Amino acid sequence: MEGYNPQEYNIITLERYVLGEGHKSPDQRIASREFTLLMSSLHTTCKVIENLVRKARLNNLVGVAGNQNVQGEDQKKLDVISNEVMVNALISSGQSAVLVSEEEEHAIIVGDRTNSAAGQYCIVFDPLDGSSNIDAGVNIGTIFGIYKIREGSTGSIQDVLRPGREMIGAGYCMYGSSANIVLSSGSGVHGFTLDNSIGEFILTHPNISVPARGNIYSINEGNSMYYHEPVLDYLNSIKFPEPPKKPYSARYIGSMVADVHRTLLYGGIFCYPADKKSTKGKLRLLYEAFPMAFLTEQAGGIATTGEKRVLDVQPTSIHERCPIFLGSKDDVSDLLSFFKK
Ligand code: AHG
Ligand code: MN
Ligand code: MN
Repeated sequence: MEGYNPQEYNIITLERYVLGEGHKSPDQRIASREFTLLMSSLHTTCKVIENLVRKARLNNLVGVAGNQNVQGEDQKKLDVISNEVMVNALISSGQSAVLVSEEEEHAIIVGDRTNSAAGQYCIVFDPLDGSSNIDAGVNIGTIFGIYKIREGSTGSIQDVLRPGREMIGAGYCMYGSSANIVLSSGSGVHGFTLDNSIGEFILTHPNISVPARGNIYSINEGNSMYYHEPVLDYLNSIKFPEPPKKPYSARYIGSMVADVHRTLLYGGIFCYPADKKSTKGKLRLLYEAFPMAFLTEQAGGIATTGEKRVLDVQPTSIHERCPIFLGSKDDVSDLLSFFKK
């Protein structure tokens, strides 16, 4: 048939992709009905939150909720609701054992909650990332990381106080001009776009790989007066390079999900350093730094604290923070050379 390309009709939904990965994978942590069910509850959650985000202005869901989270930050109405949606979906999936959310002071041990069957996965998440951007309608997202429960454990905080390299999967959903889920279960990074007309995430970005070098830097430069020497020197090197090199462009959205998404696709470097004011940086190790570092490495990039690989950091508490620099291999290596001086 003229003009007919059968490939155009071979649509890979997120569900089909996860099932396919399971069949391919020799890794029993992933090749299971349980993992598929967990992923299914995660992507349904993202659809629900995406719907809430799109209608927030119309349904009076913008603005603050009137409470603060454990980190002393004002919770937005959408932070609270997204958290509720996610906790409920993950518990009722029957696949979760331990949940850690930015919006919950304590880890949720699922087995301790009445009428809930505990599963074998521990999910750490930021239900709504970039909340300062909600009211302006700027891109925001949901971030998650997944650990398999430790052998013999029935669910305890020790199951999530583990280095990020032990995660078996991670991802995010960005609510922007379209909703995009980007995820990895350890065999590359793949991106899916929500087709609202059929309510399915469709594989649109198979095998995302971060360009080895980019020309964009992404950092809240308003904090420059607090930065340490290596960061200041690195920034100078990309803003005032020796000719014929050209200076880098600055892009900073202020939603980690969106800044990392652009970095994965276009290359360059995203930074949230430790500085003289925030001695451990701002971003949270478990549910911001680890999942994004996992994805970056899976896409061929580097994620470092400046001192060590992010995924090698040993967490000691669930809400701790961590400095992070991630992105293109060559750009992050250049930054690291300033830390070594
Ligand atoms: P959250 O909305 O989940 O608290 O996260 C906000 C984070 C992250 O998304 C972003 O990279 C960073 O805060 C921006 O911080 P600054 O406003 O200090 O630049
Ligand atoms: Mn966040
Ligand atoms: Mn958040």
